[in-house]
Amino acid sequence: MTLEDFSNYARSRVDTYLAEHLSEYGPATYLQEAMSYSLLNGGKRIRPMLTYASASLFGEANSLTDASAAALESIHAYSLIHDDLPAMDDDDLRRGKPTCHIQYNEATAILAGDALQTFAFELLSAKHHDNAAIQLQLLQILIQASGRHGMVTGQMIDLASVGKDIDLIALEQMHQHKTGALIRASVHMGAISAGATSAADLQALDIYATAIGLAFQVQDDIIDITSDTLTLGKAQFSDEEANKPTYPKLLGLEGAQALAHSLHKQAISAVSPFGDAAQPLVELANYIIGRNH
Ligand code: IPE
Ligand code: IPE
Ligand code: MG
Ligand code: MG
Ligand code: MG
Repeated sequence: MTLEDFSNYARSRVDTYLAEHLSEYGPATYLQEAMSYSLLNGGKRIRPMLTYASASLFGEANSLTDASAAALESIHAYSLIHDDLPAMDDDDLRRGKPTCHIQYNEATAILAGDALQTFAFELLSAKHHDNAAIQLQLLQILIQASGRHGMVTGQMIDLASVGKDIDLIALEQMHQHKTGALIRASVHMGAISAGATSAADLQALDIYATAIGLAFQVQDDIIDITSDTLTLGKAQFSDEEANKPTYPKLLGLEGAQALAHSLHKQAISAVSPFGDAAQPLVELANYIIGRNH
């Protein structure tokens, strides 16, 4: 399967699952509308792609793979809504459209983010999966990656570091929490949902995911400078303007690009024991460091 075919497959599976489960709930349609606006408005769906690619190493994607992909994307959408708020990055443009608080208002954006967060746990804990042991494992992985042990702490470090000179170790710690944690969870949850149990397999995947998770945010910092607003679908130089610590700032643009390439190499070599079956993961790694938006 080409990357494009794989991307279409993952996108259509996760979008169908999300749309089916984000059913109408009458009392506050405005909330519902804001949730759908931010969830179904054309993200790249990289986390779901990683989930399906990792699951494919162990068996057919099943309803827990779909729920994992959908839950990850829901947490991601919530994190972006809050990330764009005036109190955080204060951005007006996301995926080429007005950010949630611009399209609706700040209070609605905060609440839509809150509701998308719990929606993720609603999907994973649903009774119909009838697989309590795996569901609990998936929930634990997602909780660990999204909350105080993961993304939220990364966002806190990011905001607390504005205007400060932080060193390479602190920057990596920030990025691994902010973005790396959910990317690691995407790969891990895909494998667990499809029945992976071997410690060696999970370890190899974790090395891949840790490298590619960091590379993803290094590339995000790079394209903030090298891609224009139209290509990005979000404002160019947003990091610069907000005085954010970034890899290009610390290493220079070329240094940051070299780091992304070396992380890419590490990721590819970690999944080489899976042979041809790892092709989707390899192509996703190529895409992550080559992307311009
Ligand atoms: C953007 O994530 C924010 C970061 C975590 C760096 P993506 O680049 O995956 O955003 P979408 O979902 O494709 O819009
Ligand atoms: C956001 O990082 C990461 C999360 C939302 C957790 P950025 O602030 O760099 O993301 P963009 O550049 O606004 O997409
Ligand atoms: Mg931010
Ligand atoms: Mg931002
Ligand atoms: Mg960014």
